[in-house]
Amino acid sequence: MNLTSFVQEGSNKDKVQQIFGKGVRMIYQDALTSLVSDGELLDKLINMDQIPEEITSDFLKSLKSPITQPTKFEKPEPVAPFRVIKEYISWDPVNPQSFLNFFISRYKYLSQLLWRRPQLKNTISIGQLSRAKDRRDITIIGMVRDIRNLNDGRRILTVEDLSGSTDVFIPSNLPSKGEIVPDEVIGIKGQAGRNIFFANQVVFPDVPMVTWPKAQRSHALFISDTHIGSKKFLEGVWDNFVSWIKEHKEVKYIFIAGDLVDGIGMYKNQDKGLDIDTIEGQMEAFAKYIGQVRNDIKIFAASGNHDPNRDSEPQPVFPEEISKPLKKIKNLEMHSNPTWIEVEGITVLMYHGTSLDSIIDAIEPIRNEGYKKPYLGQIHLLKKRHLSPVFGRNKIFPDKQDFMVIDKVPHVFHTGHVHKLSIHSYRGIKLISSGTFQDTTDFQEKLGHSPSPGKFVLMNLSDGSSSPIDFSRVQ
Ligand SMILES: [Fe+2]
Repeated sequence: MNLTSFVQEGSNKDKVQQIFGKGVRMIYQDALTSLVSDGELLDKLINMDQIPEEITSDFLKSLKSPITQPTKFEKPEPVAPFRVIKEYISWDPVNPQSFLNFFISRYKYLSQLLWRRPQLKNTISIGQLSRAKDRRDITIIGMVRDIRNLNDGRRILTVEDLSGSTDVFIPSNLPSKGEIVPDEVIGIKGQAGRNIFFANQVVFPDVPMVTWPKAQRSHALFISDTHIGSKKFLEGVWDNFVSWIKEHKEVKYIFIAGDLVDGIGMYKNQDKGLDIDTIEGQMEAFAKYIGQVRNDIKIFAASGNHDPNRDSEPQPVFPEEISKPLKKIKNLEMHSNPTWIEVEGITVLMYHGTSLDSIIDAIEPIRNEGYKKPYLGQIHLLKKRHLSPVFGRNKIFPDKQDFMVIDKVPHVFHTGHVHKLSIHSYRGIKLISSGTFQDTTDFQEKLGHSPSPGKFVLMNLSDGSSSPIDFSRVQ
């Protein structure tokens, strides 16, 4: 629905416009529906000193019934409430048109976000640039098609929108120049020249500040990369984990960000490192191990690149024939990769993290440290509002809609894949990278990775406080 026409239909058009004047970048459609008919709520927003950049219906609900007892908590709910917010379900057959539709949907969503940014005034389409020659302080919003490095750190980008393409000159002193990657959508401020645009600022879509809705909640454990079937699977670490979880009744949820099993034929000579050499056997074994976990805990799990699923992302829920052994585990829910799940009002974005490889490689400033500090890559994915911006390095399935755009801003962003523990925070979003139940492999050593076997993250969902927990030692 066109936002402008929608607002014009409502009786509170002026008030909605005032909200946009306060720096709001986006109002989700369901939130807008309730806003246009609620003058009181609009007044509340207008009178707030600080207003979020994205207005969601959950935020509006919290305004209507604010939590007034930040120190005296209410009794926890007896039944743990959760819901799936966004899940990848199915896909269409690929044809040449799929790629076009995929990129157009990415461009449309991200350019709309950028369009609303207060600092990106005077935005014109690339097709209009020829009539804007020598105009300063104008903005274009485009998808990066190509990046060419010149001497002295200068760069030429080729960017395109739905009206055309242009070269963009990036001077060597532009702070964000090393952060630009192919296929992402960015805003560029600068001056139009003859057949080239001179950039003086690059703006990423980025996430708004997120506030943690404090309330009495349970604890969640974030784990990943169990790699059942590998000779390097650390059975003792798993036993410590199972024993620990039996004693810690405050933990109501476990999130597993993929690579449940080691898979078959993942890389050269992987078979020499396998304890279980069939995928069916590995899945049976995973079901056996996960079945040892306290059965009143809700377990949310997604696929990773080692699992028997489609090898391009997004990955749907496991195919029926593969996941039969998992059906016996009643407290286990399989989800797509990525998936957005809300537990007790907290949104968790769980993504295996395969694209961390390409983002660490593509972004110069994090190339050396990215595998030691996975949160660096996570931050860039959030800034780009996309879970896998670089097309082609890790496999992406070209759907009609680009599912990998981060259109729902989470409270928690959980990844695995690089097997390295890190806990961080970015604009109020808790960033969690889980360790692994697999000992370091020769392959990882060759790549220069430094995994964290046995190290995972315990989070108090009441306030988002997290602590590392090391199951390689008895707790
Ligand atoms: Fe893994």
